[in-house]
Amino acid sequence: MKALLLCGGEGTRLRPFTYTQPKVLLPLGHQPILFHILDTLADTPIREVAVIIGNNGQPIMDLLAKRNPWGFNFSFILQPEPLGLAHTVIIARETLGDDPFLMYLGDNILDEPLRPLINRFTAEKADALVLLRRVKNPRSFGVAVIDDTRVIRVEEKPDQPQSNLALVGIYLFTPAIHQAVRTLKPSRRGELEITDGIAQLITAGKTVHYHLLSGWWKDTGTVTDLLETNHYLLRKLPPTNEGQVKKSEVSGVLAVQKGSILKNCRVKGPVAIGTGCRITGAEIGPYLSVGDGVKITNCRLSRGLILPGAQISGVNLADSIVGERVQISSRQKNDEPASLLVGADAILKL
Ligand code: TTP
Repeated sequence: MKALLLCGGEGTRLRPFTYTQPKVLLPLGHQPILFHILDTLADTPIREVAVIIGNNGQPIMDLLAKRNPWGFNFSFILQPEPLGLAHTVIIARETLGDDPFLMYLGDNILDEPLRPLINRFTAEKADALVLLRRVKNPRSFGVAVIDDTRVIRVEEKPDQPQSNLALVGIYLFTPAIHQAVRTLKPSRRGELEITDGIAQLITAGKTVHYHLLSGWWKDTGTVTDLLETNHYLLRKLPPTNEGQVKKSEVSGVLAVQKGSILKNCRVKGPVAIGTGCRITGAEIGPYLSVGDGVKITNCRLSRGLILPGAQISGVNLADSIVGERVQISSRQKNDEPASLLVGADAILKL
């Protein structure tokens, strides 16, 4: 079995951060979303991963050329325009060949091993197996109607959902899907929808099985989802200290990577610090992820992401995302935290 990992798309709901990097490279917990997904895939028999990238995908190729502790065999397929999830299956046809494959949307994070599902799919010989999750707002998702064992109907973001079962962005397909996606027309929003491809399989009399997820799952499409996922991943983080923590008070879990120095700080975990950071006189956490090479001086920071290379001094922030290489400074004392979303390379003097 191969994997088709979707890292194209524009990520419009996560602007300004996706102006400068693909969504999948945003760091959550202690590593990019991409690495969380590859950790999940590593625990399966899959060794070949075809990665769909958009025009901004070069950094993904560079990163995976440098770091591949899982030993995957990667191939990259350029999708110049985000024409839809089913479009990625069409352009991956040759790479996937006649093998069954697991299609994984690069912004989904789940807390359930995939190996048992792959085993079940292989044993049952269905044409597809989809993952479903009960949700409160089915109108925002592809929605499935099921009987005892099969999916009998699917619809993309319906006005009047026939169930509260959302399609999770992880699917198992046999090569039958290639025939199904060939006939699709763009949907109302102008995309070739994988939901329509699955509907086509059902119409053609193919078998679509389902697995009902009970564990944690998130599609990290919006800032709120991103921050919630960060909280979740940080809660699972083991404490580590590969750097130096001096004259500081630490409660809860703190994970510090190589070359980082914390001095005169008060840390309330969970907090993850990347490599080569300098953090001085700061109150940090809970639920804070700090990227590589960040400098923080005299700040209060909780619940947020500080992306690599940012330099922040004298501010009080919560529920914020500070982009790469952003510089923020303030001379005023603020008791109430501000919530900021600042795109890469901005300079703010507050
Ligand atoms: P979406 O969340 O549907 O789209 P997006 O990531 O472009 O975000 P937005 O809606 O905010 O503009 O995509 C789900 C995943 O699939 C995501 O990881 C990007 C990927 N994708 C592709 O690789 N190609 C595509 O044509 C589309 C639509 C998405």
